[in-house]
Amino acid sequence: MTLAITLTSSLLILNLLVLLGVGGYLLWRYFSLRRTPETHEPANLEEFYPDEVLEGRKLERVLGWALVMTIIVAVSLPLYFLLEPDRQSSADEDFLDRSIERGARLYANDQMAEYDPAFSLQCANCHGTDLKGGSATFTVDPTDPTCETEQDAKEREECRPVQVDWRAPALDTERLTYTRDQVVEIITFGRPGTPMPAWGVESGEGVLNTQGIEDLVNFIESEQISSEEATKRNQDELEALLEDAQTGVDDATDALDTAEQELAEATTSNQQEKAQDNVEDAEEDLLNAQSYLDTVQEASEGELLFWNNCARCHTQGWSYYNPLQPDEAPAPGPMGGGAFGPALDNGSELRQFPGAEGPQMQYDFVADGAERNEQYGVRGVSSGGMPHFSSVLTKQQIKAIVAYEREL
Ligand code: HEC
Ligand code: HEC
Repeated sequence: MTLAITLTSSLLILNLLVLLGVGGYLLWRYFSLRRTPETHEPANLEEFYPDEVLEGRKLERVLGWALVMTIIVAVSLPLYFLLEPDRQSSADEDFLDRSIERGARLYANDQMAEYDPAFSLQCANCHGTDLKGGSATFTVDPTDPTCETEQDAKEREECRPVQVDWRAPALDTERLTYTRDQVVEIITFGRPGTPMPAWGVESGEGVLNTQGIEDLVNFIESEQISSEEATKRNQDELEALLEDAQTGVDDATDALDTAEQELAEATTSNQQEKAQDNVEDAEEDLLNAQSYLDTVQEASEGELLFWNNCARCHTQGWSYYNPLQPDEAPAPGPMGGGAFGPALDNGSELRQFPGAEGPQMQYDFVADGAERNEQYGVRGVSSGGMPHFSSVLTKQQIKAIVAYEREL
């Protein structure tokens, strides 16, 4: 960058100096001619050098200069040829750096140094200032098919829209699981039915032109973690499921102890009644926590990996369900029952990827994905919506998930 500037500006200065020199010479010549006009005859009438002089030192000097000029050209042309690719690539790099800077500004929220109220779209509010994910408040409509009339909505709680915390995925593994085109597509068109808005003018809703989207993708790309780090994070998250479930039981046990103690210490009947309610609530929480721990302990590795990596798209409501606080959001649909991605249950994967080759075909699709509009399985046509997982899960983990899906 600094080199480019010094090179450009020194060339500019050189040019200016030459122009000044020529200008100065012309002025000097003009004034000196006015002061002492030339007295001798015009040049074409004056006698020129004799042949001896012309063919002697004079000729050698001219030829000498020609040689010097030829050498300059002979050296500078190859030099230009050698340096040009470097100059070109450093210009490309500058170009990319500036695009990333603009992307960071678009991504930023007011917690970030890159924030600019006139430009920033505040992706960070939902996806986190470190791109590690976050959540967004969102209103979901009731999914119970028996909710039909407005009367239902008035009378039955499950028929009212509810506010949920919809988990927004981490974006620092985006290019490990999607192609660049897929990321462009998601940002342009958003995910209708989720908190993710459409940002591209192409969608008819957004404000970003192609360049703005490219800037964002370049920024996201520049923030990617390595495949090893992503695989490790997935492994940690898998282990955390069991730890969190265990912590849930421990916490609920402590809460029940406290509630029972308070009940024992309650003196007035009013206090007793309240404490009794608390004990009952705590007992229910403990039952929930215990049953969740049982579920996690009994689940296969493939199932747990499915929860962490696939359920947000293939299980309705998974993005806002927290099994440790099951009352806070509507219960999710059947596991793998379909949401943004198609239903995988009731043996549909045995039909999509049938026979002895089936598991391998399904493995390939989950590991490497399929280009948009390409066929996969028997009747699958890729919409380009499904990520691929070979860079964030181990082979053995993908095999475990595929085995789990084939049993759904
Ligand atoms: C209001 C919250 C919100 C804002 C603001 C937001 N997103 Fe999202 N975004 C989400 C949610 C939620 C999802 C996941 C949707 C789903 O469950 O399918 C998502 C999904 C995505 C995905 C796909 C992730 C994946 O792995 O499937 C990308 C890429 C993305 N957002 C980029 C952006 C960019 C870039 C911006 C800013 C221009 C942005 N988002 C702003 C909430 C938001
Ligand atoms: C961001 C959302 C998303 C996530 C996350 C996701 N999928 Fe998908 N999946 C899709 C979409 C969309 C399709 C439909 C095919 C397409 O559009 O290419 C699909 C299709 C599939 C299919 C083919 C189903 C059929 O019968 O046609 C399988 C199998 C599958 N996904 C498995 C998985 C597994 C395993 C995971 C987790 C490791 C996963 N998916 C994670 C969105 C997702």
